[in-house]
Amino acid sequence: MKIFSEIKQIQKFISQLKDENQTVGFVPTMGALHQGHLSLVAEALANNDVAVVSIFVNPTQFDNAEDLEKYPRTLEKDADLLKTLSEDILIYAPSVADIYANKVEAEHFSFDGLEHEMEGKFRNGHFDGVGTIVKRLFEIVTPDNAYFGEKDFQQLAIIKKLVEKYHIPVTINGCKIHREANGLAMSSRNTRLKPAYRNAAPFIYETLQTANEKFGTKSANKVTEWVYQIFAKHDLLELEYFIIADIETLKTVKRKSNKKNYRAFIAVYADDIRLIDNIALK
Ligand code: PAJ
Repeated sequence: MKIFSEIKQIQKFISQLKDENQTVGFVPTMGALHQGHLSLVAEALANNDVAVVSIFVNPTQFDNAEDLEKYPRTLEKDADLLKTLSEDILIYAPSVADIYANKVEAEHFSFDGLEHEMEGKFRNGHFDGVGTIVKRLFEIVTPDNAYFGEKDFQQLAIIKKLVEKYHIPVTINGCKIHREANGLAMSSRNTRLKPAYRNAAPFIYETLQTANEKFGTKSANKVTEWVYQIFAKHDLLELEYFIIADIETLKTVKRKSNKKNYRAFIAVYADDIRLIDNIALK
């Protein structure tokens, strides 16, 4: 297992791989790895000669100082977990100074409006931060393939747009949401849930599944109203938003069309922990 922290080291190593015509699959992460992350890494390993995993808690994508401070940092444990997949994975764990020099600031992006929906409304500047770090990591790692989870569906759409706009020569691969046996979408933030909230959290995916069933016969508006009603009655979980959106534009659906595909997106507070999830609608 190789762990690089310096840009020069990793660039040298990758340029050697490229000279040997080896393909590079890349999985950017913020660490505190779980089986959801590992499913992305497994895809990178299966479809490329070498897999690179970056571990970097990116300050510019947090709009909440406490969330950034409390974000779990567990590099050794992460390396052990990655070893269970392969000894040959390359970890890139840079420092903030390495990535941002002395200016910890995000670039400003336009993603053709995708950045103004959902997470963009509730997390100020979040996608500027994500765009800044992913563009920078792509420049450093120069991957052939990169893997992103549908767990962060809007992020995946935005990364596809970033690559298109900046003509970055990488193929973006979307990967299915990995869940606990009880349906809760895996997330690094789940480890911070107090027991009562952890027990309550599967309600989020249960609601998405029922919403999916209801969407077969009811309008998006009616389904949305129903979700707001049942969350209003819930003692522990606080709904931030529930939206049924067109998967291309991520805009809220007004009238259903057979020609379009929809997904339901949800953000919920469990105590002070913010959880997101989504589901493809039939
Ligand atoms: P992070 O939250 O660590 O997630 C890294 C990748 O793992 C993302 O592509 C995310 O969608 C995926 N992922 C997380 N949980 C998943 C699950 N349960 N099933 C499938 N995939 C899952 O997303 C980020 O980091 C950052 O924004 C990053 C892209 C690294 C930029 O800083």
